[in-house]
Amino acid sequence: MFTLETTATAAYVVAAILFILALAGLSRHETSRAGNTFGIAGMTVALIATIALAFARDLEALGVALLVGAMLIGAAIGLWRAKVVEMTGMPELIALLHSFVGLAAVLVGWNGYLHVERDLAGSEATLLHQQGMLGIHSAEVVIGVFIGAVTFTGSIVANLKLSARIKSAPMMLPGKNFLNVGALVVFFALTVWFVIEPQLWLLAVVTVLALLLGWHLVASIGGGDMPVVVSMLNSYSGWAAAASGFLLGNDLLIITGALVGSSGAYLSYIMCKAMNRSFISVIAGGFGIEAGPAGDKDYGEHREIDAESAADLLASAHSVIITPGYGMAVAQAQYGVADLTRKLRDRGIDVRFGIHPVAGRLPGHMNVLLAEAKVPYDIVLEMDEINDDFGDTDVVLVIGANDTVNPAASEDPSSPIAGMPVLTVWNANHVIVFKRSMASGYAGVQNPLFFRENTQMLFGDAKDRVDAINSALSVSEHV
Ligand code: TAP
Repeated sequence: MFTLETTATAAYVVAAILFILALAGLSRHETSRAGNTFGIAGMTVALIATIALAFARDLEALGVALLVGAMLIGAAIGLWRAKVVEMTGMPELIALLHSFVGLAAVLVGWNGYLHVERDLAGSEATLLHQQGMLGIHSAEVVIGVFIGAVTFTGSIVANLKLSARIKSAPMMLPGKNFLNVGALVVFFALTVWFVIEPQLWLLAVVTVLALLLGWHLVASIGGGDMPVVVSMLNSYSGWAAAASGFLLGNDLLIITGALVGSSGAYLSYIMCKAMNRSFISVIAGGFGIEAGPAGDKDYGEHREIDAESAADLLASAHSVIITPGYGMAVAQAQYGVADLTRKLRDRGIDVRFGIHPVAGRLPGHMNVLLAEAKVPYDIVLEMDEINDDFGDTDVVLVIGANDTVNPAASEDPSSPIAGMPVLTVWNANHVIVFKRSMASGYAGVQNPLFFRENTQMLFGDAKDRVDAINSALSVSEHV
């Protein structure tokens, strides 16, 4: 016998399977489109089932109006933001979306408290009490509120840092580790207290404590380490959603939250490994900041090259590696770069790409841009696959990359990015760096690569410079 409840449960199982297929699809370029489609389908099924259940529960007119109004406004804002957001603005948008999940978890937690613990003589509380489940409900409330509040303020700080509305330098409060660990210890003590004796003021203290902790955790992390923070907040938002799922008794929210939480945690782990950071210290907040400030070391003079000479150098090369970075995304130079790649390969030159795991502003940023410009996947290699080949390479084109090709990371233990693996481009015979000025990269540190004997700077917008090289190569083709 089908009831709306059993149909909704079946729909939730289907949605959960679609979400798992979405994650599997998104893990490879070739299947990422299908992954997205699975995700959209899963979310549609989940929304329809949830809305149908809500309507079946005798909602009052005000409830229906609020639900429909919120959905329409939310969908309109979501569509508009998705349409206008630049690829380079994705990380800050993602951080903002994580903050919504955190806020929702806080509100769900407070709602749970107001319906049950505040009214201990009420029917819901009495029922839970009889079943011996009241303590579990209280733990769900306080843990959900805590994770949600940490995610909320942490994500807001991440958004502000990524959009350069606050400085990306780490905040260095004295005894910051002590503050973080202390906050956790106080949280555990308050949780036990709240479970034994739920009281409004206890929940209020936990909320404020978690809001401050989230702010502090992310504020203490420096700009160069933000990629890991974004994926870590992604994970936190998943756990916050799962906590809400327990409170609302919604299995799909628990499954989806756990999927997001664990895949975000795994991504953070992979990125920590790629950046040679300790996973535990990331979770504890504020890592990689013991190193001193960037300093104003004098590295001597840099050399410059123009587009025509760069084209000549490329035309005489046998092997070329292109290492793109955030500047390629800003300049939207990927189409010109794809064109240049075709031109050089047509001349029999071996062209490959070296992609640093945190190049750009979000994981996979460069891969997406190059795929968009139809650069063949098989010549786009990960850092580990290509790092040993720079010594045998004639020319490296560093297109709008900076931190990811900074030799100071491996040579200067006092550098804020010390220990982060980088593309060892300086081992090639010639290095051409495309950028507009001598300004530093995202981590705010100077790059000694620019002053090396075998490095030449090609100043200007990356798209203009690449187009100029393409024109010079076209001219020489016809001579
Ligand atoms: P960056 O170190 O940020 O360097 C980008 C370079 O591009 C800058 O030096 C800039 O120099 C140049 N540039 C900007 N616009 C340009 C344009 N129109 N034409 C030519 N050049 C232009 O980039 P990267 O090497 O890709 O390193 C990524 C950094 O971002 C790392 O520190 C990483 O930790 C951080 N980060 C990464 C992520 C993820 S998940 N990937 C997320 C957040 C932060 P000029 O201004 O002189 O042109």
